[in-house]
Amino acid sequence: MTSRALACVLAIAFGSVSAATAQGYPSKPITLVNPFAAGGPVDAVARIMSAPMSKILGQPVLVDYTVGAAGTLGVGRVARAAPDGYTLSIGHWSTHVINAAIYPLPYDVLKDLEPVGMICANPLLIVARASFPARDLGELIAWLKANPDKASVGTAGVGSASHMGGLYFQGATRTKVQYIPYKGTGPAMQDLLAGRLDFMVDQASNSLPQVRAGKIKAYAVTAKTRLTAAPDIPTVDEAGLPDLYVSVWFGIWAPKGTPHDVVAKVNAAMVSALADPAVRQRFADLGQEITPPDRQSPEALAAFHKAEAGKWWPIVKAAGIKPE
Ligand code: MLT
Repeated sequence: MTSRALACVLAIAFGSVSAATAQGYPSKPITLVNPFAAGGPVDAVARIMSAPMSKILGQPVLVDYTVGAAGTLGVGRVARAAPDGYTLSIGHWSTHVINAAIYPLPYDVLKDLEPVGMICANPLLIVARASFPARDLGELIAWLKANPDKASVGTAGVGSASHMGGLYFQGATRTKVQYIPYKGTGPAMQDLLAGRLDFMVDQASNSLPQVRAGKIKAYAVTAKTRLTAAPDIPTVDEAGLPDLYVSVWFGIWAPKGTPHDVVAKVNAAMVSALADPAVRQRFADLGQEITPPDRQSPEALAAFHKAEAGKWWPIVKAAGIKPE
């Protein structure tokens, strides 16, 4: 029996252990594990949430990094952590759904994690370095067709949101590109800004600040409607790639076996942070849509997470995407 299994058996046998844990919780700092490099989309969400959640919980919520293999190392760290509410996982559609259909993971995303709550969702933007010759999506596609395998596309690794977006784009346009993996799209963005990458199919929250600053070009947003935060960027339908919709949703999870009332306390802090007007404004500026209140509960995330796995696993497995 592993030490974690033994701890669980003892907690069940002496119900007081779990009750006591929840009662004084939190009595020390909480670690929120970002499975990607600093400066990217998960980091932005984690950092917006950490300050108000720290205030509400009365203990610091510290963002920590365990990066690599498209986020699987960071999620694995939390799946193996003590189920006491002091190590939490923040991630999204690709880290908590897609990766499980690509990588032989030493954890089960549905069985080894306790859903805490869904935070927000953002679409992807098709963006290019400022000096890229194409002026719109049609010109980008024409350039890629004339230059097969020449364009470099930054991703956060095989199976990441940016890689899945790139694969969709490639499939829909029947083009061939070269993927350059990074430990997150934060560092990939630095190379796009420096002109060392040609383009990215990147989360809106990561690209929008650079688009607004005129440092990169945006060709289209992978949504049915334009972003309120960036009304000038056409939708994929308007730009000529109908139906290429991708939405990357974010959530927080705890290790399986975390006491129910500890999960409830973290969820309550998350829900109340999401109601804060300053927090709402920061998400809106990044093109992140906050999850409606009736879908912010642990139960809603559990049901949605399961449904997303049921929807995506067959598609991703059939596509035969191989780990790096
Ligand atoms: C990140 O935070 O770097 C990402 O969410 C990357 C991605 O999945 O494309």
